[in-house]
Amino acid sequence: MNKLLINIKELCGILDDQKAPLAGHQMNTFNTIKDAYLKIKDGKIAGFGPMNELSDYSKWEIIDVKNQLVLPCWYDSHTHIVFAGTREGEFIDRINGLTYEQIAAKGGGILNSAELLNKTSEDNLFESAETRLNEVMNLGTGGIEIKSGYGLTLEGELKMLRVIKRLKEKYDLPIKATFLGAHALPKAYKAQKEKYIDLIINEMLPNIHAEKLADYIDVFCETNYFTVDEMDKILEAGKKHNLKPKVHVNQFTSIGGIQNAIKHQAVSVDHLEILNDNDINALRKSKVISTLLPSCSFFINIPYSPAKKLIQHDIPFALATDYNPGSSPNGNMNLVVALACIKMNISPEAAINAATINGAFAMEIQHEYGSISKGKWANLNLTDSINSYGFIPYSFGVNHINKTMIKGNWIN
Ligand code: NIG
Ligand code: FE
Repeated sequence: MNKLLINIKELCGILDDQKAPLAGHQMNTFNTIKDAYLKIKDGKIAGFGPMNELSDYSKWEIIDVKNQLVLPCWYDSHTHIVFAGTREGEFIDRINGLTYEQIAAKGGGILNSAELLNKTSEDNLFESAETRLNEVMNLGTGGIEIKSGYGLTLEGELKMLRVIKRLKEKYDLPIKATFLGAHALPKAYKAQKEKYIDLIINEMLPNIHAEKLADYIDVFCETNYFTVDEMDKILEAGKKHNLKPKVHVNQFTSIGGIQNAIKHQAVSVDHLEILNDNDINALRKSKVISTLLPSCSFFINIPYSPAKKLIQHDIPFALATDYNPGSSPNGNMNLVVALACIKMNISPEAAINAATINGAFAMEIQHEYGSISKGKWANLNLTDSINSYGFIPYSFGVNHINKTMIKGNWIN
């Protein structure tokens, strides 16, 4: 039945159809209506307004939300939630002084996860990924991007992407799949990087295309991982299979990945913890959306991306969790929003915009999701009885999402 939410303390994140991701001063604008109603018909937002303008109660299932806030769901545009096992051992190594890069150099890190993943069945991977998906949906995530990249073999990568496909089929929230074969050089190809890149281009990509397993292509373009030239070659090959880039760049070093991704008309450039003036200039002149991952900075103790500077330069950005076993074993978008305010010094309005509408842009689903707009899907978060949306980041580490609705249905 069609639903009518009444007595909403504050209906937050109202937008007209946005042509471009929010940037600059727009990041700090956040339209809300206090004491509001919201109508949901066939899973979509059919109308909203102040309570005193509400007429025509008939034919609606009335839900009195009793002074709770309603926001659009979070859109987590960068995750790696398909993985096997966890890496607490490396966590202890880092506590004892090793860096993320040092652990990777001695064969840990991504290669550690790849070894485990290749020993794990598709069904077991599906089960654990599904548990993580339910966990984050219960924290208010209403759309998610998921990467491969822990297979690093033809079978392993296909297995991961098939798991993502099964999640897409089973769940109502929008899910995007990204092929990240170039996540690290597998042990079997040590000193044979060319050969591994050939495998990506000549074996993995055609198979992925044949099974329609991916929406995007990613490369970890970084010192000791993949060079700009290697990324160039892989993205070019991806284009032949209609895969647009969403890439890992500038996590530890600035080596020209942003400029190359822009040349390939990437949808997003992700991480950006290390940015120099040339990078900022390149971002300013492009249409690419930056994706910032503050819980990764928090967990592995690296700099936070300069979000304030991006706002000053009118560069649009999304916020995402990077949920993965190595650099961010946490998929809580509420925490990401809090870290963005606390550690990147941006306003709650900017952080929430980055985690909702701009996240939807980073997955190219902005016309149907990401804001309170007539005609968009009713993917909504209902808070508990807090006073204001600013309380969400202020009261960091606590979940204030009381209920989540996906396409008009409560999931909890
Ligand atoms: O986004 N930096 C590359 N990939 C992941 C981490 C992967 C891992 O450590 O397992 C990231 O941080
Ligand atoms: Fe990542």
